[in-house]
Amino acid sequence: MNIQTQVQLKPFNTLNLNAVASHYVKIQSVDALLEALDYAEQQQLNVLILSGGSNMLLPEQLHALVLHMDIQGTEHIAEDELTQTVRVGAGQPWHDFVLWTTAQGLFGLQNLALIPGLVGASPVQNIGAYGVEAGEFIDAVHVYDRYEKAFARIVAADCHFSYRHSIFKDDPNRYIITHVSFRLLKNADLKLNYGDLKAAVADEQTAENLQNQVIHIRQSKLPDPKQYPNVGSFFKNPVISQSEFDQIAQQFPNLPHYPQANQQVKIAAGWLIDQAGWKGKKLGMVGMFHKQALVLVNYDNAALHHVRAAYHAVQQDVFNKFHIALEPEPVLFDENGLLRPHQD
Ligand code: EPU
Repeated sequence: MNIQTQVQLKPFNTLNLNAVASHYVKIQSVDALLEALDYAEQQQLNVLILSGGSNMLLPEQLHALVLHMDIQGTEHIAEDELTQTVRVGAGQPWHDFVLWTTAQGLFGLQNLALIPGLVGASPVQNIGAYGVEAGEFIDAVHVYDRYEKAFARIVAADCHFSYRHSIFKDDPNRYIITHVSFRLLKNADLKLNYGDLKAAVADEQTAENLQNQVIHIRQSKLPDPKQYPNVGSFFKNPVISQSEFDQIAQQFPNLPHYPQANQQVKIAAGWLIDQAGWKGKKLGMVGMFHKQALVLVNYDNAALHHVRAAYHAVQQDVFNKFHIALEPEPVLFDENGLLRPHQD
């Protein structure tokens, strides 16, 4: 086990925040994971799980053992007439895995092409795009349960997947995801309902073309983290009651909205931020992207406090205009590697 000290995590988080970890180790097997957890216990260090770093906000100094998940491998584990199930190491890059499924003639994940991050993070916030969520195709999540001190397989129904949420977000200290199993379709079933995806795919209704169109749409709107460090959508799209929506819609009839179950309505945070004047606007080194106001960008060498000042200002301006509280998507860590609330 190669535990390193004072490791700069800037290259390992897509917002490129300066964050130095007191202890760091790369995890490439389940045995290495157990060894590292023993070490953390002996040294009385908190453990922070680092995956692709595309949904986290890190402090400048981190006193914790960072476990950088890098378990690889893809295996076919089951098959029936309609589906094939594959088990994938948590450290596989998500986009490479999606491309691989398409090349194998397996359907379901094409709408999720080009999402940054690694496979192991996909269940945590139930990543989603263009009308599909990863949870729809997850068969089970393979974890180390730190409370029970045992490996476990959690079937999808027990993961409680919902919009950008799962049990893994509720209790972040309990489970360490080592592998994810996906049950994918052997026959094409393309999901073309979102926005202008159907028009983009046009007559060539193949999984390859759907995947290419999604890649194209994302590239045209969303900044490449290598050029403009970011964590994707910075805020969730608020879900409000129908009556609340009716009230806002009187004043703002153009507000993009999507009816949900239970008399609720999801509204577009990007539109709210745009209308509040933040599209392309910066506060110091941090700003909201000029082509998609929902994406916060680190334009220079920002640290966490710069990012927090900027997103608090956005939240304030949106609240003043619409009386809606925006909730950040990425998780925020304190100096001991523990989750902390965004509002304090
Ligand atoms: N809009 C504006 N101005 C903007 C941005 C958006 O007016 O600056 C309007 C758009 O015109 C559209 C609506 O807001 O009418 C929604 O925009 P878009 O279709 O681009 O999607 P989004 O709601 O901004 C969500 C997800 C994305 C996902 C896309 C496509 C959330 C928080 N975000 O974005 O997910 O890729 O839909 O499905 O649910 C992510 O979570 O990191 C992410 C990128």
